[in-house]
Amino acid sequence: MKRSLALVLLAGSALAGPALADDAALRAAAKESFEAIPMQPPALPSGAAITREKVDLGAMLFFDPRMSKSGLFSCQSCHNVGLGGVDGLETSVGHGWQAGPRNAPTMLNAVYNIAQFWDGRAPDLAAQAKGPVQAGVEMNNTPDQVVATLNSMPAYVESFQAAFPGENDPVSFDNFALAIEAFEATLVTPNSKFDQFLMGQDGALNEQEKRGLQAFMDKGCNACHNGINMGGNGYYPFGLIEKPGADILPEDDRGRFAVTETADDDYVFRAAPLRNIAITAPYFHSGKVWDLKVAVDIMAESQLGEKLDEATLDDIVAFLGTLTGEQPEVVHPILPVRTGATPKPAPM
Ligand code: HEC
Ligand code: HEC
Repeated sequence: MKRSLALVLLAGSALAGPALADDAALRAAAKESFEAIPMQPPALPSGAAITREKVDLGAMLFFDPRMSKSGLFSCQSCHNVGLGGVDGLETSVGHGWQAGPRNAPTMLNAVYNIAQFWDGRAPDLAAQAKGPVQAGVEMNNTPDQVVATLNSMPAYVESFQAAFPGENDPVSFDNFALAIEAFEATLVTPNSKFDQFLMGQDGALNEQEKRGLQAFMDKGCNACHNGINMGGNGYYPFGLIEKPGADILPEDDRGRFAVTETADDDYVFRAAPLRNIAITAPYFHSGKVWDLKVAVDIMAESQLGEKLDEATLDDIVAFLGTLTGEQPEVVHPILPVRTGATPKPAPM
């Protein structure tokens, strides 16, 4: 959960070491903070099995724009599986062409986050999936309308029966969310250059990338960005040492404060997962920064109180580039054909 300030600072200085250790020492140090993405999807928090039927249904729901009130927006609109799981916009645009308040984070590897959203307000992927469908600025739909839409198409009803065998009422909003969760759990990106290095291949990283990894640890970035997702597992003030300007950190988005309503959580956000970071610009919950080097520069100043030199910034950016893993190749599912009973899309 939230680490104390002292612990964060301690972790930063305790890990300071020589400029570039040999590969074995570098790997040993890295393994204290980071973990390679497993080749197999993890167990779900609900304990539910990830079955082929559930994953296939989840993919259909993820790609189906008819889950939105307008018939225009699907999960894929804002979490494009071909674009690293993001929409590449400063903040997402949804129902009525409204721009939402935050940048869309990737759903790739999201199953490894301790909680979902920039402020961690959804405990897991299934809880998360119910949010965008109902959000006024996203898909603007209602659970009843989603279930009515699904029930209107026999192919969907059959898919729910196959994915949730033996249930009396398989076509439900809860199962909609569980199927999407199972699909998203398969959207992981193993075998990045960094993971190959962690697993023992010295040559997977070049000298600059190794310097970057060393700097990432020496400077203390790993105090907050660690674990499988190199983040996504703890909450910290954005501006722990020095608050960035309102151009980067808009004043009206106070992060976890809105979730917990405790003063300690003012401008606290989840340490962003850094997997695939080189392909998911723009950066920060505000989406205000397009250049990864600028984002690293801001992080060093705001979270560590340190101005990094150009060479170190370049090294860290090169290292971050090695976090791009194998992207899941998803075949766009063929979606069930509408019937006379299918609710018509509403004008926006
Ligand atoms: C209109 C754009 C839009 C649509 C449509 C949309 N999302 Fe999102 N998604 C976002 C934004 C923006 C956030 C971050 C919101 C926040 O943190 O408050 C987000 C957050 C997430 C996260 C959390 C990732 C993390 O690292 O915390 C997941 C997972 C996700 N969405 C999955 C979905 C699924 C599944 C659907 C379809 C049911 C969907 N989204 C539909 C824009 C969208
Ligand atoms: C004290 C904790 C902490 C430390 C130390 C820290 N970060 Fe962060 N990092 C965060 C938080 C919190 C966010 C999310 C900020 C937001 O809300 O936009 C973040 C976001 C980022 C992002 C943007 C991610 C995205 O998806 O937009 C990058 C890149 C990043 N950090 C890199 C670094 C690097 C490199 C270092 C070391 C120089 C570092 N961080 C040190 C907590 C930290």
